[in-house]
Amino acid sequence: MSFQLRVYVPDHPLIKHWLAVARDKNTPNALFKTAMTELGRWLTYEASRHWLVTAETEVETPLAPCSATMINPQVNIGVVPILRAGLSLLDGAQTLLPLCSVYHVGLERNEETLNPSCYLNKLPEKFDPETRVLVLEPMLATGGSIMMVLEELTRRGVNPEFLRVVSVVAAPPALKQIGENYPQLRIYTAFVDEELNDRGYIVPGLGDAGDRAFGT
Ligand code: URA
Repeated sequence: MSFQLRVYVPDHPLIKHWLAVARDKNTPNALFKTAMTELGRWLTYEASRHWLVTAETEVETPLAPCSATMINPQVNIGVVPILRAGLSLLDGAQTLLPLCSVYHVGLERNEETLNPSCYLNKLPEKFDPETRVLVLEPMLATGGSIMMVLEELTRRGVNPEFLRVVSVVAAPPALKQIGENYPQLRIYTAFVDEELNDRGYIVPGLGDAGDRAFGT
């Protein structure tokens, strides 16, 4: 089956730098968390271009009135970190989107079947159809978790056109599923790795993002 894929890998030295820090197995947990925060910040910056809604207004400088463009406060912004690992990107994303609502979704992976199950869902029953939603999932591997969350979001009224996913390392199985089911959606990632191992981990990837960010 053919599918359209909108994957953006921003060519930015800060993104490359923090990805290298995150991939390095010798990076201590505290620095790994810093790297994820920075990746969350710069990838959100890229993802928010042409996604945030602006409004024209007028301000007065100390010298004269002047036309200006501001973020339109009428349009809701939702950020959905997929726990646990997605939390590591949240601080960076929130510094750029201070007015966002954060909707936590907690998924855990059955290590035998690799299928996710949901233990926490803070999504509202219904989203306003204009809401811009950013999903934070650092590792797009098998695609099981992200597909579960995307289905919940669209079922609750989120327009896929207004959905963005921020990840750190993405792999073909997840990208294929997203592309086949949500061709309008855009993914922003620091890198696309080619392979998964038989435990569903991305290779070379960066290991278990949740364990490394939280030291547990
Ligand atoms: N989750 C992780 O934390 N790492 C992977 O490589 C895949 C899923």
